[in-house]
Amino acid sequence: MHADLLIRQIGQLVTCRRDKPGPIIGESLNHLEIIENGAVACDQGTIVAVGTTEDVEREIDADCATIDAKGQVVTPGLIDPHTHPVFAATRETEFEMRNLGKSYMEIAKAGGGIRNSVRKLREAPKETLFENGKKYLDMMMQYGTTTIEAKSGYGLSTESEIKQLEVIEMLADNHPMDVVPTFLGAHEIPDEFRDNKAGYIDLLINEMIPTVAERKLATFSDIFCEKDVFEIDDSERIQTAAKEHGFKLKFHADEIVGIGGAELAAKLGAVSADHLDDISDNGISAMAHAGTIAVLLPGTVHFLDMRKRPPARKMIERGVPVALATDFNPGSSATVSLQMIMNLAAVMLKMTAAEITNCVTINSACALDIDGRVGSIETGKQADFVIWNADNIKQMPYLYGCNLVDKVVKNGRLAN
Ligand code: NIG
Ligand code: FE
Repeated sequence: MHADLLIRQIGQLVTCRRDKPGPIIGESLNHLEIIENGAVACDQGTIVAVGTTEDVEREIDADCATIDAKGQVVTPGLIDPHTHPVFAATRETEFEMRNLGKSYMEIAKAGGGIRNSVRKLREAPKETLFENGKKYLDMMMQYGTTTIEAKSGYGLSTESEIKQLEVIEMLADNHPMDVVPTFLGAHEIPDEFRDNKAGYIDLLINEMIPTVAERKLATFSDIFCEKDVFEIDDSERIQTAAKEHGFKLKFHADEIVGIGGAELAAKLGAVSADHLDDISDNGISAMAHAGTIAVLLPGTVHFLDMRKRPPARKMIERGVPVALATDFNPGSSATVSLQMIMNLAAVMLKMTAAEITNCVTINSACALDIDGRVGSIETGKQADFVIWNADNIKQMPYLYGCNLVDKVVKNGRLAN
């Protein structure tokens, strides 16, 4: 068989293959297929053979470009299913204010936070936003991420949301990273609607959602379902309208104050509900029953120094599908590194290396509904994988704060 790239003699080839479609849940989440002295071959961006080095070399033609990964770990390319990577400026001043005692919500109510980013994005030309975004996507890939979800939500007017989504589209078209776009017009109530939330909700339902749908600029619709932002009734109206326009649904739910966002996400058939630091037992049951994926964001809990953590162990025990993401954004989680998240998931969420690995690969792919194409190393899937400077999979969350990536293969080509 013809192949144009072979990775051979892999110390631990971690495939993240599963027995059946859909996210890996419960006890199975703690199991990984590990092939010792493994190999993977690809041709024109698609995986064509996976197995031991001996078996794969027997299957493919001899004239193939080869990388030796002796003693190294290879995993699928990491998938980050929750990011806000397009913004005009960083917010390190707010970070310092928080560390000196102000809360995230206090800063937001005083006009900082998301509305600070909105004012700046509205003024910024698309080229600047593209260049900023590209810089972060480059960094993400250097840290092993090969697919991301990218949200709007710093425009909060029809014109500026479309501008931000067009920048996301430019990044998707001009960067090797796979980018899944999400409309987050319901991220905050913009300055000009501060005394007229109902007016902004009307604009979302009657103009923004239909326009974004018609222009096919986003796959998902997301919302900041939170006390004093979009409450449960608001969220139900907005996301029902989005669903009617063909969007798949995501929620920022039960992050700061649990108000039943998880239950609503489950009720509306959302693909995922994210954050969930203050989820209730009912919310856990509803998500398990509906199969709604819990995208956990320990980077945000760390960066905001929050006391409540999402109850990952309880969720896994009760059969809620779990995934992990950075939540990369300038306000509440300024990391592009899923490796950092892997460490935090171990320390703060008490997850094992095997669970964590599944949660940043195949289960993240499920949280974006692209698990038929990426998220595991198996024949027919896109050739996205990472060769790590690690001896075994348990070192991955353990050796933290450094970049363990040796090489990234994206679409069958070396990316760095
Ligand atoms: O996921 N909570 C709402 N949205 C983001 C924060 C965005 C920002 O502060 O700019 C989040 O944490
Ligand atoms: Fe977020």
